[in-house]
Amino acid sequence: MDLKQLDAFAKEIIIEAGKRICASFSYDLEVEVETKSSPNDLVTNIDRETEMFFIEQIYQFDPTHKILGEEGMGEHPDSMDGVVWIIDPIDGTMNFVKQHRHFMITIGIYIDGVGKLGYIYDVMREDMFYAIAGEGAWYNDSPLRKLQPLTIEEAVIGINASWVTPNRKINHEKLIDLIHTVRGTRSYGSAAMEIAFVVSGKLDAYISMRLAPWDIGGGIIIAKEVGAIATNLNGQAPDLSGSDTFLIANPYIHQLILEHYIEEK
Ligand code: IPD
Ligand code: CA
Ligand code: CA
Ligand code: CA
Repeated sequence: MDLKQLDAFAKEIIIEAGKRICASFSYDLEVEVETKSSPNDLVTNIDRETEMFFIEQIYQFDPTHKILGEEGMGEHPDSMDGVVWIIDPIDGTMNFVKQHRHFMITIGIYIDGVGKLGYIYDVMREDMFYAIAGEGAWYNDSPLRKLQPLTIEEAVIGINASWVTPNRKINHEKLIDLIHTVRGTRSYGSAAMEIAFVVSGKLDAYISMRLAPWDIGGGIIIAKEVGAIATNLNGQAPDLSGSDTFLIANPYIHQLILEHYIEEK
């Protein structure tokens, strides 16, 4: 498999998909918003059309490739054998609907279960974070450098406010301690964006109690190239076969956060 050729093709269709999403704002009335599992879980026709666009393009490129997309528009692969694209056509759908910004296209390309190419694309800013396994990671044309040492007191972390109020997943008091210890917290509403910020040092950690394979499939490939550590909250490698807890962090604070501030119920 020629990774360079696959990388060029992936970038081309991501940028084209981004242009199509932007164009949808000019015919605003055609964005149809529906809810999925809860009133806060949104999907639009643009999420589905974007996923369909990727599926058609990828099958034209190579019909043996398999696609796992959030909106289930294609046939879900039964294994990770061969080339598997894990796609979130719009990560941050609520931002897309409400703010018309701060939403990402994110894609991970796996070959026989091994992450090879990872992309997080900020559609409105036209900013691409990406990696080629073993060769490095980039932010547009600039190489991303390895993450540098820092203390927990200097860290700025991404976390959703719902995890620091009483919840079924975690001892939220410990997370309140973490929030009082770090320099600052942020909540951007797109897991892929928060992962992109960790790999580029704009955030030092991001914590979530529930993410799906398409939220993290691209980001964890980029993480490896810059030395960011991505695990579930038990410290194990993220499981791409279903939803799981998630912590990505600068390598100098990852273990400390797990040991001192995470207590699952
Ligand atoms: C969601 C966003 C959000 C995260 C949710 C995800 P979606 O993805 O990444 O930030 O908190 O868990 O489901 O549904 O907008 O693709
Ligand atoms: Ca969704
Ligand atoms: Ca998502
Ligand atoms: Ca999505």
